[in-house]
Amino acid sequence: MSKLSVNHLLGIKYITKHDIDLILDTATNFKEVINRPIKKVPSLRDLTVANLFFENSTRTRLSFELAQKRLSADVVNFSASSSSVKKGETLIDTVNNILAMKVDMVVMRHSSAGAAEFLSKKVNAKIVNAGDGAHEHPTQALLDAFSMREKLGDLKGKKIAIIGDILHSRVALSNIFCLQKLGAEVKVCGPKTLIPKYIESLGVKVETNLRKTLEWCDVANMLRIQLERQDIKFFPSIREYTMLYGLDKTLLDSLSKKIIIMHPGPINRGVEITSEVADSDQSIILNQVENGVAVRMAVMFLLAGRQ
Ligand code: CP
Repeated sequence: MSKLSVNHLLGIKYITKHDIDLILDTATNFKEVINRPIKKVPSLRDLTVANLFFENSTRTRLSFELAQKRLSADVVNFSASSSSVKKGETLIDTVNNILAMKVDMVVMRHSSAGAAEFLSKKVNAKIVNAGDGAHEHPTQALLDAFSMREKLGDLKGKKIAIIGDILHSRVALSNIFCLQKLGAEVKVCGPKTLIPKYIESLGVKVETNLRKTLEWCDVANMLRIQLERQDIKFFPSIREYTMLYGLDKTLLDSLSKKIIIMHPGPINRGVEITSEVADSDQSIILNQVENGVAVRMAVMFLLAGRQ
């Protein structure tokens, strides 16, 4: 069967292993397309997509827009900071006004968890969640899995560590769901205050010692400290966090094997990861960004029913 089991991509929680494999395999074909001299295919030339970003983004917004253009879709971009949301318009009114202009698919980032799911029940368009609060960021998890699979092959039995601010991270939750569905072992590592209490109930291992975690894993996915989502202090100082959980080249080189380093961006260089590590030959951070375009092409192509 070469169809997705869902009409919208709201979270990895709602899709199957078959869906994930289908998206990653389709993305492999699109990666070949975007590396050709002519990087475009006409697959979505009859489709209009609106990118609604109610929260800041660099990578995700550009990546979706480029993916849409590579698929020949018509694209409209909306940014909350320069829209009538500032005058008090509701989410539903904003979206319905955009849909009245005959939009077929909506890619949305919003600071509220559940915003994409709410929208999917209210409007007649395909919805892609581009990050909803601290809930899910499904296309990030898919591009992360694609990037790991490129380096390691089948992820079944591979050991993946997610390190840092797990509590405020939508990337962590989507990665946990995705990696577990692909059969990988997942461990989270960080200060206890930044690890949610429910996490072990998801079948994830917890470790507070960074060196032990790095010695265990094949891949370390280093997350940013999300200071913008922290209304209280979760650790004494950034300096102390970096001393205990920052990854530098001395620590990386002292490990008994060569591990892969990932980061979803934006990076706080010198906090969770040093420049030397981010730019090292063990880092696949820019591969993740490149693969994001192919993976998002695959998601929109399949949601549009073009398998
Ligand atoms: N990885 C990620 O979501 O980055 P942006 O916030 O820049 O989109």
